[in-house]
Amino acid sequence: MDKLSLISPHERDADDLTLSVLRLYILSRSPALYSTRRLYEAALGLEVDVRIINHMHCELSLTPKGVDILYWGESVLPVDAILPRIGTSVTEQGAAVIRHFAMAGVYSPFEAESLLATRNKFSALQILHSHGIPIPRTLMSYPMASVDRFWQELQGRKIVIKPLVGTQGEGVILINNLADLIRIGNLFQRFGRRYLLQEYIEEAHGQDIRAFVVGDEVVAAVRRTAAWGDFRSNFHRGSTLEPIELTDQEYVLAVRAAATLKIPIAGVDIIRSHRGPLILEVNASPGLEGIERATQIPIAEKIILYLQQKADTSIDF
Ligand SMILES: Nc1ncnc2c1ncn2[C@@H]1O[C@H](COP(=O)(O)OP(=O)(O)OP(=O)(O)O)[C@@H](O)[C@H]1O
Ligand SMILES: [Mg+2]
Repeated sequence: MDKLSLISPHERDADDLTLSVLRLYILSRSPALYSTRRLYEAALGLEVDVRIINHMHCELSLTPKGVDILYWGESVLPVDAILPRIGTSVTEQGAAVIRHFAMAGVYSPFEAESLLATRNKFSALQILHSHGIPIPRTLMSYPMASVDRFWQELQGRKIVIKPLVGTQGEGVILINNLADLIRIGNLFQRFGRRYLLQEYIEEAHGQDIRAFVVGDEVVAAVRRTAAWGDFRSNFHRGSTLEPIELTDQEYVLAVRAAATLKIPIAGVDIIRSHRGPLILEVNASPGLEGIERATQIPIAEKIILYLQQKADTSIDF
């Protein structure tokens, strides 16, 4: 590793700007997380001038002179690129930080608005649907006036009820009959939780596919199988992961879904149904742990290479 990659952005003098070393901040709340650590190490290995910044501690200023971003009292500008890793519990704050970096001319693989759109499951499905991307039949229904019609239309299929904001499968419930559906929907409403209803893709047998998209490629894909007795295949719910070859149709669909939501580094979840592959969701901060271990593909390095290619390191501030 050369000397430059060890120098923090604050220590560099003006001459260094002529060398096109990418200056990158990984936005993450914890350097100890597998994904953050892997991305950081990959960046170091690729001679990137990298630093981890906790977006929850960024102070954002708007003044007549312009915008600034302060971290523990010091400006963190200029920098070439950010790689946001924003948890679902702090989406709004994360989006504000991403927007501020954009206002300062810093490259980000996705915009604040794209993050916000993916974080609301229904708005993400609306956008996918409006671009002709196949998704499971879905109903947003308060106060459930037409759930019985939805139930009839599904002709005996079960229903999944899920909160609008994803939390690694928590609160995603499989419902077998109309009475339970109404009861659980009312319960969600009583606790002020917004939700959507979706046809249950039973023929998937608790399996779905995670396709990891970087730019216009699927760099890795796994089949996730839910733990015994569960239908949710989330990695953090103990599902098993195995490498899988996507069909051409699935490959194209994954890349299209990520592009449609304007998230070029994305975990795209696909479920195999009787009417072909359907998109379940597009994840803007996909975890690397399960998929890197299962496939042995160095996804972190591929992400950093993508950023090196996309970010303009020649901008002189
Ligand atoms: N319509 C469906 N049919 C069959 N299985 C489903 C359906 N919707 C969800 N699942 C299963 O439940 C899991 C969790 O659902 P989903 O991804 O929608 O919510 P989440 O994981 O809580 O959200 P996030 O991934 O944003 O944290 C999926 O990975 C899938 O295995
Ligand atoms: Mg999910």
